Amino acid sequence: MTSPPKKLFIFDFVSQVQYNETVMDKEIKELFDAAVKVKEKAYAPYSDFHVGSALRTKSGKIFTGCNVENSSYGVTICAERNAIFKMVSEGEQEISAILIVGDTEKFLPPCGACRQVMAEFAMKDTRGDPSIRILTEQELI
Ligand code: THU
Repeated sequence: MTSPPKKLFIFDFVSQVQYNETVMDKEIKELFDAAVKVKEKAYAPYSDFHVGSALRTKSGKIFTGCNVENSSYGVTICAERNAIFKMVSEGEQEISAILIVGDTEKFLPPCGACRQVMAEFAMKDTRGDPSIRILTEQELI
């Protein structure tokens, strides 16, 4: 059983004006469902904080990732970086949107390493754009 996250964060590298409401809702829902599902696979015995991430590539494919911790904590990989590395391993390199879910009421800011990796693989036309959008569930509703 997948438990619904208390809060959702989406990192959207595409200007939302490119979408109409209907398309955006469906696309977000797809990412949301995929992220919630993969969150159940998290390996987080040290923090007990399970995270799931789903991204959409420029070509429309979805990749997912969960956090995978290690007893040497610095070796831990975050959910979003895991999803991005899976994407690259499968031959894609451009993210149009990425969504992260965790069981928390608080804002879940991605770490510096994840932001760096997101910036590296944002779509070419938004890469390096400082106005990467960070949206919360409330802003999407
Ligand atoms: N974590 C993520 O996977 N993504 C985030 O955006 C925030 C933090 C993970 C790393 C670690 O396994 C656990 O959450 C606690 O920080």
